[in-house]
Amino acid sequence: MVKRSDVLERVLVLEMVRVTEYAAMAASHLVGRGDEKAADAAAVDAMRDALNELAFDGTIVIGEGERDEAPMLYIGEKVGAAIGTGPKIDIALDPLEGTTITAKAGPNALAVLAIAEEGCLLNAPDVYMEKLAIGPGYAKDLVSLDKSVTENVEALAKAKGVKPAEIIACVLDRPRHEKLIAELRAIGCGVVLIPDGDVAGVIAVTNPETTVDIYLGQGGAPEGVLAAAALRCVGGQIQGRLVFRNDDERLRAAKWGITDLDRIYDTEDMAKGDVIFAATGVTDGSLLDGVKRFKGGLVTTESVVMRASSGTVRWVRGEHRRSES
Ligand code: FBP
Repeated sequence: MVKRSDVLERVLVLEMVRVTEYAAMAASHLVGRGDEKAADAAAVDAMRDALNELAFDGTIVIGEGERDEAPMLYIGEKVGAAIGTGPKIDIALDPLEGTTITAKAGPNALAVLAIAEEGCLLNAPDVYMEKLAIGPGYAKDLVSLDKSVTENVEALAKAKGVKPAEIIACVLDRPRHEKLIAELRAIGCGVVLIPDGDVAGVIAVTNPETTVDIYLGQGGAPEGVLAAAALRCVGGQIQGRLVFRNDDERLRAAKWGITDLDRIYDTEDMAKGDVIFAATGVTDGSLLDGVKRFKGGLVTTESVVMRASSGTVRWVRGEHRRSES
């Protein structure tokens, strides 16, 4: 059982939704406008403003990048209205997960946030991570990044009581995944190819309605930590192994204190203790509906907020009438 955190207790769970709602609404003005940078900047600004209204002493551990490359919400930035006095919390965030999707009005763009007590979220460098995720109800370590794709699919199929060919996998549609997709199709698996947005892709394994059984492939390491935070709340398992493509990335890992470059991180290694995860849809997707604007100025949002210690998942439909929404 996950121990309830007194530190998080003092931070209103629903306040997290306000933060992701603000970011999603700001980014939604840019949906389909072909400008990824403007969409991201709008979400970042709005999320930062909303975080700075909250009575905590927050530190960004997963953010928009390192200080020299990101002007706002950079790793190490302090946020909150009670810096030095309020409860200390670590924050992993992606104000706009799916910048390209937003620019092209595709599915599954989200504003995402996870918080935990200081030291509980993996400080992952911005490199790729090989990911493997399955839903709740399976034995720990049923699947492993140390096993082949075929071995993992066979183990999962056996545990689910179906044939390997009945397993549905979700994979980012990238040339680097050609071999992986070919191996899955050789088994007979259905492969759901997503254009972007692997936080929603990983979370899909926890929702039977998506039909996705397993998530596989390389995506961003920060997104891996965010997805792990969500799985800590709703169940399911994720494993991640950082992928270093060059010396610069290996140096970055050293800066982060990572010495074992081949380490496999499990769900708890990435997000431990009592974790709160919140997301608001920017565009419609498998997890959430996107922001909708109606005649007369009404704006609606759909969000989810979850907590590891209670396992509570709240679906929040917001109606916003302020002119700046
Ligand atoms: P951005 O919102 O930063 O564009 O990330 C979208 C995303 O699809 C992530 O969900 C995923 O982890 C990563 O990009 C994959 O990276 P790449 O596009 O380089 O394959």
